[in-house]
Amino acid sequence: MDLNELQSLYDFSGRTALVTGGAGVLGSEIACALLGCNANVVILDRDQGLAQQVIEKFPKTVKGRAARVFGDVLDLASLNQANETIKTEFGPVDILVNAAGGNHPSATTQPDLSFFDLPLDALRHVGDLNLLGTILPCQVFGRVMAEREEGVILNVSSMNAFRPLTRIPAYSAAKAAINNFTQWLAVHMAQNYSPRIRVNAIAPGFFITKQNRFLLTDKDSGELTARGQSVVAHTPMGRFGTPEDLLGATLWLVSPASAFVTGAVIPIDGGFSAFSGV
Ligand SMILES: NC(=O)c1ccc[n+]([C@@H]2O[C@H](COP(=O)([O-])OP(=O)(O)OC[C@H]3O[C@@H](n4cnc5c(N)ncnc54)[C@H](OP(=O)(O)O)[C@@H]3O)[C@@H](O)[C@H]2O)c1
Repeated sequence: MDLNELQSLYDFSGRTALVTGGAGVLGSEIACALLGCNANVVILDRDQGLAQQVIEKFPKTVKGRAARVFGDVLDLASLNQANETIKTEFGPVDILVNAAGGNHPSATTQPDLSFFDLPLDALRHVGDLNLLGTILPCQVFGRVMAEREEGVILNVSSMNAFRPLTRIPAYSAAKAAINNFTQWLAVHMAQNYSPRIRVNAIAPGFFITKQNRFLLTDKDSGELTARGQSVVAHTPMGRFGTPEDLLGATLWLVSPASAFVTGAVIPIDGGFSAFSGV
């Protein structure tokens, strides 16, 4: 064992990390952690005002630089443009974190909206955002990794990928597809380009954020809904996750500490996926 190497596993100096959906609750925390480990970090999101606010909250006493770039993960032209901008400013992307995603109320069954009536455009939006919104960035930034024969991709799956939750069929199916795609791309990159390109995913449990607050808390009282209470009851650790809970596994998966790990999906869920409910 080389002690110096061991101690520098989480030093990303000189590396460029891109976080899609980096202005979101989980993406911004991941971006902040990468910056804290000395990476140059670029937040890709649609709302540039929000992305700027996120960057302003980042610590200033770090080696790396933080920047934002406009990008829509469903629009290849904007991703290609972002790639060019990042290459000019920072060099090629070494670490891609695909954190853009989420569910939408219009693709969620309600007492007055049955599965049979869920609108096509809502189903398509959620399916596309979560699956194509990961595949397209992997095409654009993964191509650069393939050319350089190195790089790390981290996708964001969900508990829905293992067993679907009620009410959100498009989101559940798309996240299951993310697990499958993570394995597929891991094999494809290792066999066709380089074993030094790794592709993994985290599967967060339940974290209250913009995209699921309407399901987990009552909008008037702020109290947990019956669904929110059920989530906590089915989480052996008895609480929701906090964004910081994701950081250990995330940094491990994008660092050389996991050099022999590819195609893995790591639950970060307080035990939710291990619990039968009895
Ligand atoms: N929160 C949880 O409990 C949980 C659990 C498991 C998995 N996840 C996953 O974790 C990831 C992050 O979610 P989050 O909870 O942090 O949600 P969030 O706060 O809503 O963050 C998602 C971010 O993605 C952005 N985004 C949406 N569509 C985009 C597009 N087409 N192009 C670029 N950016 C886009 C959103 O921007 P806009 O505001 O402009 O839409 C937002 O900034 C998602 O993949 C989600 O499915 C979350």
